[in-house]
Amino acid sequence: MPFRILTFCGSLRAASSNLALLSAAERLAPDGLVLNRYDRIGDLPHFVPDLDITDHLPEIVIDLREQVARADGLLFAVPEYMHALPGSFKNTLDWMVGCQKFPGKPVALAHVTSRHAFAPVQLEEILRTMSAEIVSEAGFSLGLTSNAITPEMICTDASLAAIVTRHLDRYQTWLSRECD
Ligand SMILES: Cc1cc2nc3c(=O)[nH]c(=O)nc-3n(C[C@H](O)[C@H](O)[C@H](O)COP(=O)(O)O)c2cc1C
Repeated sequence: MPFRILTFCGSLRAASSNLALLSAAERLAPDGLVLNRYDRIGDLPHFVPDLDITDHLPEIVIDLREQVARADGLLFAVPEYMHALPGSFKNTLDWMVGCQKFPGKPVALAHVTSRHAFAPVQLEEILRTMSAEIVSEAGFSLGLTSNAITPEMICTDASLAAIVTRHLDRYQTWLSRECD
């Protein structure tokens, strides 16, 4: 059985470069990984602890937590806004905290650019606070300086495609070693 990786794009922009990265990763994934994107970030309600009550959880939050629980690992591609995480993505993390299966969940971080100096550090700190298992050898940056990219551009550029496949291979190897 292939490992199931649930991916999250931290940008809601239609032509998002982070979305392009994840779409390319879906196409380039090795046979041992199946990548599926969580695409309801923009529909989640604002996190309110009062709503986070077992009997009255919004259906969309139950679905998010079930998808996270079922996944063997997560893959995040998130941009930086005002030296921080995009609010909608932070909101998603706030809702994920209540997922009983989140602690110890493997998470890899993919970046389009290495220019973001703040958000990646904050994201790692938040994930450590949430007791995620950050799989550092599976994390990578494409090192691009423009966000005008498409999945096709990544898949057809030999060096970019190699970065993606090499790190997905490492994620698969890590999961095979740690989760069997
Ligand atoms: C409101 C706003 C604030 C931003 N703030 C930063 C920032 O603080 N640091 C940075 O490196 N880029 C910043 N950017 C640039 C975005 O990170 C960049 O456009 C990124 O490609 C957006 O991701 P996407 O292509 O997936 O939509 C900002 C962009 C916007 C729209």
